[in-house]
Amino acid sequence: MFVNGQWISAFGWFPVRSPATGEIIAELPSAGIEEAMLAADAASAAFQTWRQTTAHHRCALLRAWYNAVIEHTEGIARTITMEMGKPIQEARGEVVYAASFIDWFAEEGRRVGGESMPSQHGDKRLATLQQPVGPVYAITPWNFPAAMITRKLAPALAVGCTAIVKPPVQAPLTALYFAKLWEDVGGPPGTLQVITTADPRTVSQVMFDDPRIRKLTFTGSTEVGKRLYEQSAKTLKRMSLELGGHAPFIIFEDADLDAAVDEVVACKFRNAGQTCVCTNRIYVHRSIASQFAEKLAVAVNRLQVGDPLLESTRIGPLVDEHARDKALSHIADAVAQGARIIAGGVRMEGFYVQPTVLQDVTATMLIMQEETFGPVAPLITFDSEAEVVAAANASPYGLAAYLWTRNLTRAQLVAEALEYGMIGVNDGAPSTAQAPFGGNKDSGLGREGGHWGLQEYLDVKFISTKLERCTLES
Ligand code: SIN
Repeated sequence: MFVNGQWISAFGWFPVRSPATGEIIAELPSAGIEEAMLAADAASAAFQTWRQTTAHHRCALLRAWYNAVIEHTEGIARTITMEMGKPIQEARGEVVYAASFIDWFAEEGRRVGGESMPSQHGDKRLATLQQPVGPVYAITPWNFPAAMITRKLAPALAVGCTAIVKPPVQAPLTALYFAKLWEDVGGPPGTLQVITTADPRTVSQVMFDDPRIRKLTFTGSTEVGKRLYEQSAKTLKRMSLELGGHAPFIIFEDADLDAAVDEVVACKFRNAGQTCVCTNRIYVHRSIASQFAEKLAVAVNRLQVGDPLLESTRIGPLVDEHARDKALSHIADAVAQGARIIAGGVRMEGFYVQPTVLQDVTATMLIMQEETFGPVAPLITFDSEAEVVAAANASPYGLAAYLWTRNLTRAQLVAEALEYGMIGVNDGAPSTAQAPFGGNKDSGLGREGGHWGLQEYLDVKFISTKLERCTLES
């Protein structure tokens, strides 16, 4: 692991397995209390000097990091594919997406400013400064092992915070790759550290208890996010939580059906459905429901399932046994309650799940309440705008929602009524570096990306200066 500019080991080790083959592809040191404390000390010491560097200096380093990432696209992509099973073409796309956050924040980081406010007193000057919040602890997920690192670290480093990344046990290698490139371009010791561990609770406890760590940023499940929220209360850390989703995708009767099918496939089956923003409920207007279902089934049956290192593969394995079992249990529960499988549904070897479309889905089915995180698309019919908006909002989650229509008034009103942080109008893939990413309710707190992403790593300081007089000496 990478601590204080050194590649260090630990007492215990853990294996990283390919979800495609089950083979061990690496063994990594497993950090405990000692390594976590070393990292916290180094992040805290480095913060004192890093925060004093200029934004121009930090952003030039980020630009060099960006160039290095782009140069290593193929190596990073293969690492992603091997450790978590994302098809290689998609993995290359993730590297470019990950780099786009570094690119964006290398520019945006130069634009952190303050404000001045007029005072009611002639002898006072009121102003604000924005300053880095302090050392950051970033817990990153396995489903986007590259992009979720850069979406958190690029803004943190740009404004002068230092960061400790704890990557997931399933996919820690990509994080080490990014740390190596940061080291290669001259990133100072302690500014970016990666601690690998098979015992995340112990490592995280050290960070929660340490008052010098001023911010927690986490992407992962709602259940874990709520626990981290509680644990961070003791040292009252700033928090960004990007948690689960259960995205509705609403297709109105005036939609361009072929385009809507393409976008549903892209949204639902990207990363084999292991995406917080992928749709988990597809509402289709009753008048077009059977036509849409037929077209979707044809498109889904064409998706090539297989070895994620092959260029032709569109659907790789799920990350582990638990992920596979959850997806299969959602299919089984839906079928037991009367849903029909119109594509896929055949059990496969290993962690693979055949992309599946379910018709005649109803609100009582498990898939309508829980995030599947797998390649299963449930279809539900609706009759009116009001009915479908009420159904879409009847969820504890509020991350992303999508709608498809050619009617501008309808698009605007429905987008306003949906209680979600991000809305795709005729767009199944709205995420981009310059826009805010994040949700409401059980989907989390805070926003990443855009200028909002910088604010998460800044504290506002108010300075009131009282002058000795109000006018110039004559
Ligand atoms: C996620 O689902 O975890 C991130 C997806 C995105 O950035 O589009």
